[in-house]
Amino acid sequence: MSSLKPIVLITRPIPESGLKILGSKYTIIMNKSQRPMSRSQLKIKIKNANGILCFLNDTIDKEIMDIAGENLKIISTFSTGYEHIDVKEASKRGIKVGYTGSILTETTADLAFGLLTAVGRRIVESDKFVRDNNWKYGWSPSLMVGSDIHHKTIGIIGMGKIGKAIAARAFGFKMKVLYSNRTAPSVTYTSHDKKKVSNERPLYVSLNKLVSDSDYIVVCCSLNKDSYHLINYEMLKRMKKSSYIINIARGKIINQLDLIRALKQKLIAGAALDVYEDEPLEKNSPLKKMQNVVILPHIGSASRETRDKMSEIAVNNLKTVLEGKNLKDTFLLN
Ligand code: DGY
Repeated sequence: MSSLKPIVLITRPIPESGLKILGSKYTIIMNKSQRPMSRSQLKIKIKNANGILCFLNDTIDKEIMDIAGENLKIISTFSTGYEHIDVKEASKRGIKVGYTGSILTETTADLAFGLLTAVGRRIVESDKFVRDNNWKYGWSPSLMVGSDIHHKTIGIIGMGKIGKAIAARAFGFKMKVLYSNRTAPSVTYTSHDKKKVSNERPLYVSLNKLVSDSDYIVVCCSLNKDSYHLINYEMLKRMKKSSYIINIARGKIINQLDLIRALKQKLIAGAALDVYEDEPLEKNSPLKKMQNVVILPHIGSASRETRDKMSEIAVNNLKTVLEGKNLKDTFLLN
């Protein structure tokens, strides 16, 4: 009898908050392991599914949609990014695509600031120093001296929702905020417009200027064909030797080999990364050996509150389509 219920494939465990609202109206096929489903498992499990709740690690392309056939009505990703889904192909077939909207904005901005302070003030390095019993002489005038954050210049690449949330935090630290975007705003302020740019107004500049003038560069634009390897060796060479780069967006926006080269050549002071060209970060990455680099395992949205909310939204997206209802907090792309 249960086969009469719509079938939902969930490719990895999700927080209870979402499962609770999914209820008992569905036949749920869930991968209970934290290890993502392999492509071959996905190809088997997608057959007959009416909805799939997937993650950044699952590539949902034409081949998968062909296998799913007409049964598949909704692809709901437990993420705000959706570059792993062929949305155009889905639209052609009338398959809806759901994502988690801007629910993770503030949480991700918090983490960006955490990374910025961690790398600038050498927090992770200092923690390791104490744990490794290297702290021998108490207070020392030269111990773990880093860089100020207050009154420094932050350059935000991509002034979307997360960029704005980072800017709001930066103003709290009395920082000067520069930003660049794919398209220039209709009203721009030049660095000569001193009065206009003070008072908590971010200043739009070209990417080149942002890179050469900032003490902290935060990458928070989305990944697309224009932003792929936007930060390469040439850009890194433009940075001040005392400056840091932080990436909370997508690894492929920075050419990782170029970054490693720039760090080795001490062209920049350090980097703080939540995302990488390939995830997980490869076992022998030179980044792991560098003290002036903070490396996190893609945890930008990883607060209990936000992950619970993401779970609810991802499930509501599914239910909205499968039940033909208009539930609140749903985000459909097509
Ligand atoms: C997203 O949702 O796109 C994040 O990168 C993961 O939370």
